[in-house]
Amino acid sequence: MSLTSSTLRKKFIKFFADRGHVEIVNSSLVPEGDSTTLFTGSGMQPLIPYLLGEPHPQGKRLVNIQRAFRAEDLDEVGNTRCHHTFFEMMGNWSLGDYFKKEQISWAFEFFVDELGLDPKKLYVTVFEGEGVIPKDKDAIELWKETFAKHGITAREGDKFLVGSDPYLRIFAYPRGKNWWERSGAKVGDPAGPDSEIFYDTGKPHNPKFGPECHVNCDCRRFIEICNNVFMQYQKEADGSYKPLKHKNVDVGYGFERIMLVANGKETTFETDLFYPLIQKLEKLSGKTYAESPELDKAFKTIADHIRASVMLLGDGVLPSNKEHGYALRRLIRRSLRFARRLGITKGFTKELAESVIEVVFKDAYPHLHAKKELVITELALEEERFGKVLDTGLKKLEHLLAFKGLQDATISGEDAFTVYETYGFPLELIIDVASEVGATVDVEAFNKAFELHKEKSKGASSGKFKGGLEGSSDMHIKYHTATHLLHQALRDILGSHVKQMGSNITTERLRFDFSHDQKVNVEELRAIEDAVNLKIKEAVPIAYVDLPLIEAEKTNALHFFGEKYGGTVRVYFIGDSLEDAYSKEFCGGPHVRSTSELGGFKIVKEEAVSKGVRRIKAVLA
Ligand code: ALA
Repeated sequence: MSLTSSTLRKKFIKFFADRGHVEIVNSSLVPEGDSTTLFTGSGMQPLIPYLLGEPHPQGKRLVNIQRAFRAEDLDEVGNTRCHHTFFEMMGNWSLGDYFKKEQISWAFEFFVDELGLDPKKLYVTVFEGEGVIPKDKDAIELWKETFAKHGITAREGDKFLVGSDPYLRIFAYPRGKNWWERSGAKVGDPAGPDSEIFYDTGKPHNPKFGPECHVNCDCRRFIEICNNVFMQYQKEADGSYKPLKHKNVDVGYGFERIMLVANGKETTFETDLFYPLIQKLEKLSGKTYAESPELDKAFKTIADHIRASVMLLGDGVLPSNKEHGYALRRLIRRSLRFARRLGITKGFTKELAESVIEVVFKDAYPHLHAKKELVITELALEEERFGKVLDTGLKKLEHLLAFKGLQDATISGEDAFTVYETYGFPLELIIDVASEVGATVDVEAFNKAFELHKEKSKGASSGKFKGGLEGSSDMHIKYHTATHLLHQALRDILGSHVKQMGSNITTERLRFDFSHDQKVNVEELRAIEDAVNLKIKEAVPIAYVDLPLIEAEKTNALHFFGEKYGGTVRVYFIGDSLEDAYSKEFCGGPHVRSTSELGGFKIVKEEAVSKGVRRIKAVLA
């Protein structure tokens, strides 16, 4: 069986158009009118207002194939069978129209009747329930009926028994697996239980990932090909969920993954979405993809990153040192370095970009044709800029590593910063190079060096600082750090129920509102003041680390639950290291570099704001 990507695109749209769906536009990777995230990361993102109830001008049944980009886990590319930075998601939506019954039978029909997948290889998961939200028994019954229509008896069972009994096809999982809301969902975001469809590739289980296999096992014997979200809740400020006015369906089908399973390939890179790029790389390098397992990751990373870079450039992103532009720069620079691994020293981005535009996405993205010149020129410019320093930078790094004795070495923050500043190596690239010889990079120290440099180069023009503060004078910055100290002292002295409810800073004072249901007495106030002043006296350093949201949450840093946070979060900590820090908070900064800069701290007022909320005003002197 063979299925081309262009056929899959047509079949999908037609299948849902035949069922009353209108095809909507495939939006830009750079979201318009949504400043909460840098990139479009899923098909539903442009539809949030409509999932919340606003009428969509094109109706209640929608379908499209949406381009998406996720900048996390660059290093995962090439390590697993199907991880990508740029990817496409086929989607269909019901905005308060049909619900579980139709969706479950259609998804199954699409895979089995339309694409010809063997129904015996399909397995599904449902939400097991939590708190007031019940187990999805409706979905279980509907899956049983749907399998039965295709001659298969399906039952629910223990996830570890998958494959042991042909009847066990339905498995319930907790919230971590079968609940969907976008990453960093904010208050008011739509959410709901989901039901996923997996395809059994028959690959033997790899015990490296656990003694027993199950459909969600990271060995990837089973590949998730579809996520049916029953979007019927809305996230509330206290972390709970209230029912939405309409019950919606939000479905995402992994385009690259379906190409993999429908064509019986080992990885997505052997499908027509990537293989033309692999072939170009074989030609340019004189190496063979299938016969060079040690170069496997290089082939895959370059194919993924250049494909993604073309798409970002096509949507107007240009390489730079911040936000969208930096994500693009990282991809191009990483590809260049992997190209060196393949022995490619001459310009290669042009040929690959041409393949992306003219072969891989020939019909799917006509807007790229008009942008071809620009895409090729920008890639070549970046290739030239970085190519010049790449070899010297790599030598410098190798020298540093050799000097340290290769194994288990740590590249210091200053050294890493020098390589970053002198050669333009993104931090990830330095980490990559180091990790290949078992070395690490002192990321915290790198960030400190980075901050120090930023401050030095900004000098007195601190007005340029960007962060969550309205003002940006030195006094604002000091009061901002004092607020973090106060927050921690309140929790230490009054208890961990204390949560920030509001904060306001002027050049004269700080004002901090927090949850606490009685007056803070004089002894407590003194103890709080003393705790803050002690930290000021100790001249504790302040620094930050940027971490993926999941990692950031693991640090137990204080943050607003339900607040919007992007894929990467900045955690400011007051202490010598993140682990032992006195205070940790998700925060955009800026802050002073040492608590000693605050001088002294005095509480001038304590009062009630509303029931259960107190307010403290304090000054620095
Ligand atoms: N919004 C769902 C997802 O991205 C379908 O998985």
